[in-house]
Amino acid sequence: MSLFRKYGVLFQKTRSISWLHQQNCKLSVLGIETSCDDTGIAVVQSDGKVLGNVTNSQQGIHLRYGGIIPPRAQELHRSNIEQTYLKCIENSGIDPSALDAIAVTTRPGLVMSLMIGLRFAKYLGRKYSKPIIPIHHMEAHALTVRMEQKVEFPFLCLLISGGHSQLVFIKKATEFYLLGESLDDAPGEAFDKISRRLRLNTMTKFANMNGGQAIETAAKEATCPDRYEFPLPLSRYKDCNFSFAGLKNNSIRTINAAEIEEKTRPDDVIIHYKDFCAGFLKATTRHISNRTQRALEFCLRKKLFDNNTNPAIVVSGGVANNDYIFDNICNLGQKYGVKAYRPSKQFCSDNGAMIAWNGIERLMEDQACALTNFDNIDVKGKCTLGLSLIDEVTEEDIKCKWVKTL
Ligand code: KG4
Ligand code: ZN
Repeated sequence: MSLFRKYGVLFQKTRSISWLHQQNCKLSVLGIETSCDDTGIAVVQSDGKVLGNVTNSQQGIHLRYGGIIPPRAQELHRSNIEQTYLKCIENSGIDPSALDAIAVTTRPGLVMSLMIGLRFAKYLGRKYSKPIIPIHHMEAHALTVRMEQKVEFPFLCLLISGGHSQLVFIKKATEFYLLGESLDDAPGEAFDKISRRLRLNTMTKFANMNGGQAIETAAKEATCPDRYEFPLPLSRYKDCNFSFAGLKNNSIRTINAAEIEEKTRPDDVIIHYKDFCAGFLKATTRHISNRTQRALEFCLRKKLFDNNTNPAIVVSGGVANNDYIFDNICNLGQKYGVKAYRPSKQFCSDNGAMIAWNGIERLMEDQACALTNFDNIDVKGKCTLGLSLIDEVTEEDIKCKWVKTL
């Protein structure tokens, strides 16, 4: 039965989905995520319960080839999506005909990968007569925390992943204001490239880790974390934008020099790689923390948190898995009386549950987001996030007394 038929009353103008929610009627949404290298499918209820969540990661394969090659990623999504879906449905114990909608990532991401998810969503939508909710991948990362924890709108969000670095102020599920973004690389991308350049993947203990995880793990074992020095990007710009390309290029030059000096063999790793990782992680964290501090000051100065008595900063995206970065954001927030949150680790990285949850958040706000005509639903590789307030942030000319990194 479709959402429209099941809750016919719902679609009378006087009845909203939040009304339905208050009446204890739970919605169940299937979420499909294929924007990059994870095939993620989940079923989530409107009370935040995750009935099933299956992720088929291509990481191991891409690690072997030194990076993601879009046609290979597409092929892997194509061959994995059906079994991922079947396993999710089995784990969920739900009959697909009982679903209320299908949420699917349509933007931004690798077009070839997104297409596989959307095509599958349309197939299921037609088969079971279910509406489709197109989802913005970064909006989904930003709201995931609300699936598990009580974080009220409005809040500030730091999105750090393999493809993005953004600071957004979120007023409601569909109202985002961009305060800052990366001018070049994303932090996860920098971690992945430096980890590969250091050849951490050739060491057994890091072989199955992504770049960020490998650098975080190695950094914990550093004995002299200040051995290497790193520049602080964009320190003269009084905005909240990010830049990781300089840090990355500077690191590559330092590794090249160390390899020459140490006569490192082509299959070996520089002697002080752990100290290098600690220095790189600290420099990245200092940059992220400083930009976030200015965003926080902007929100407070402009009274954007309104009368929210529990102002919050949420960290999400794959890089939010990093405990050192998150601890620093917690410490920063504490200095301003703002509590920091992040989703539990299984939901920081790409997954289907965050897409399903975003579908639920959108449905609760406006059921018109669920489309029954699929003809105009398409994928988009690049897509902005919310309304830009970047110029307004710069105009404020905010000077901060930097909170020191831990
Ligand atoms: O959000 P995500 O799963 O995919 C994208 O949408 O990009 O993020 C993946 C990124 C990878 O670049 C990976 O290196 C990074 O998240 N990552 C981490 C950690 N775990 C994953 N970065 C730093 N520290 C970690 N522990
Ligand atoms: Zn992501």
